[in-house]
Amino acid sequence: MAGQAEDDITSVLHESRLFKPASEFSKQAHVKSRAAYDRLCRRAEKDPEGFWGGLAEKELVWFKPWKKVLDWKPPFAKWFVGGSTNVAYNCLDRHLEGPRKNKAALIWEGEPGDSRILTYQDLHREVSQFANVLKNKGVKKGDRVAIYMPMIPELAVAMLSCARIGATHSIIFGGFSAAALRDRINDAEAKLVVTADGGHRKGGVITLKEKVDDALKDAPSVETMIVVKRTGNAVKMKKGRDFWWQDEMKGASAVCKAAALNAEHPLFILYTSGTTGKPKGVVHTTGGYLLGTTVTSKWIFDLKEEDTYWCTADIGWVTGHSYIIYGILSNGATSVMYEGVPTYPEADRLWEIVEKYRVNIFYTAPTAIRALSKLGKQWPKKHDLSSLRLLGTVGEPINPEAWMWYHTVIGGGRCPIVDTWWQTETGAIMITPLPGAIPAKPGSATLPFPGIAAEVVNKNGKKVPPNVGGYLVIKRPWPSMLRTVWRNPKRYKETYWSDIPGVYFSGDGARKDKDGYFWIMGRVDDVMNISGHRLGTMEVESALVSHSTVAESAVVGTPDEIKGTAICAFVTLELGQKPSEALRKKLKAHVTKEIGAIARPDQIRFTDNLPKTRSGKIMRRLLRDIAAGRESVGDTSTLEDYTVLAKLRHDEES
Ligand code: PRX
Repeated sequence: MAGQAEDDITSVLHESRLFKPASEFSKQAHVKSRAAYDRLCRRAEKDPEGFWGGLAEKELVWFKPWKKVLDWKPPFAKWFVGGSTNVAYNCLDRHLEGPRKNKAALIWEGEPGDSRILTYQDLHREVSQFANVLKNKGVKKGDRVAIYMPMIPELAVAMLSCARIGATHSIIFGGFSAAALRDRINDAEAKLVVTADGGHRKGGVITLKEKVDDALKDAPSVETMIVVKRTGNAVKMKKGRDFWWQDEMKGASAVCKAAALNAEHPLFILYTSGTTGKPKGVVHTTGGYLLGTTVTSKWIFDLKEEDTYWCTADIGWVTGHSYIIYGILSNGATSVMYEGVPTYPEADRLWEIVEKYRVNIFYTAPTAIRALSKLGKQWPKKHDLSSLRLLGTVGEPINPEAWMWYHTVIGGGRCPIVDTWWQTETGAIMITPLPGAIPAKPGSATLPFPGIAAEVVNKNGKKVPPNVGGYLVIKRPWPSMLRTVWRNPKRYKETYWSDIPGVYFSGDGARKDKDGYFWIMGRVDDVMNISGHRLGTMEVESALVSHSTVAESAVVGTPDEIKGTAICAFVTLELGQKPSEALRKKLKAHVTKEIGAIARPDQIRFTDNLPKTRSGKIMRRLLRDIAAGRESVGDTSTLEDYTVLAKLRHDEES
């Protein structure tokens, strides 16, 4: 936990508007009133295992019942002990028996305007076929499969195929560099990689296969690469290692029984940034994760049989895993998937898609809302958005102005907005309004999901009074929680269960107001939230110092109107190196190459020295103030060299 964390937790937001759901919405909702929500919470509080066990029985298909709902040996949890099931079976096979057989599971829109609709039956067939392809290539239960793909239907097919045979997938966001991809492949020791020749983005083509080729120069565990032909750009295929998806699928049988998997079988690993340079492989398992995503999807998005649901996230992030694929398909709903950027070919692409498919439920990130609102309401006004009945946000706090724009311009004033707080580690949404039951306050994620014991506490784990900032913790295990950090249980324990006694610490600061509503105040550790994506300052620092000209660097986040946070890097050069515009550019490109474009610093400031305490610790709080152009109000009495501060303020990137 960062040393100055407590100073940062002073709450400034004062938003008092309250938006009640319309009574027509509440009447038809899965959870219809505050009283119904309170009843669910009370039941969960009194008997958490009975609550989750009851839902697991009702909402999922099990091959073998569990013997025990929870085995909790802090901080290690096992849910539905002894039970067996299969995530792909729950997402596909169980829907084939009734009228959902020919219902659209995925409606996919390519950036160039091509589209594909896969019914549950179609998706089941392709998943079974690709599961057989994986088997033919020697992939067995428990093996890891890395997936590095654009947002195309084959990505959904690949992940569900892994789930079908019990291979553990590790999806790496397509924006990550070859180096980042290599590190993740090696950490998981993946046996096979699924990729594509490229993907369409902003009217151009992003190359993927080339990056995998690069990564595989130093990734000895990988035996096979499967490549989807998407863009048709030229790629080199290595004989005996690389195979075209389309060729492999041709001969593959469409019969592949879903494996009966232990409830605790690892479904996927997803790497996320932490406070050290090395990303953590967050491990999610089968039964608990599926229950968490299924129930939250149903109650929070109020999914109904006839709904068309669209989450704009990339499947490379947890939001896409849980709320484009697993939670949504498990409910037998229709999920829209879009390949490209929101502004291609024009600023109304998202609204055009909403109109085209008559989308009813729309889930996106505040950064997208802010960026699109800046472009003006004429773009959404060009389209009929009357099909929308519910809106959602995720990934970062939403500022009340953006909330109001979303509510009035996109939602026409009639759609409830669910502001959902959760994390890669939590697997499923944790704090959120249930849209028919809980009035919204713009900027607040409102109340915990029933069964989730969220609290705001001080360093000693003691609950703080209303409106006092503190640390956001979860006091009880929950089914979709991460089980460990891949092959590093020590790091799991230290990162999440050590700072505050006896509870899961999220890394976020928050306050609760007098109505018990949660207001998330952002990270209190050295993790930034860039456009709703997590990035450790240390990761960017390591990338910078890996450049031959850099001696030392300190990276901080600074407020940004659109991205939420922008990256500011303070850099001390090696002796003999001279600061220049050209070097700035080079260093930015270097970070992009090492991690990916999301990590590219917005600002690089050269400095002879970094402000340090006498014990040599970089004083990030001061750097944050300098980057944001604020006068430092904090304590500088431990600063080693006062002149450093004055110099830093003068070296601003023009
Ligand atoms: O700081 C919180 C912020 O995003 C972090 C989790 O990032 P990640 O694991 O990448 O997952 C993002 C999507 C689930 C949290 O620790 N965050 C997420 N949702 C919200 C949020 N901050 C404020 N309000 C939210 N609704």
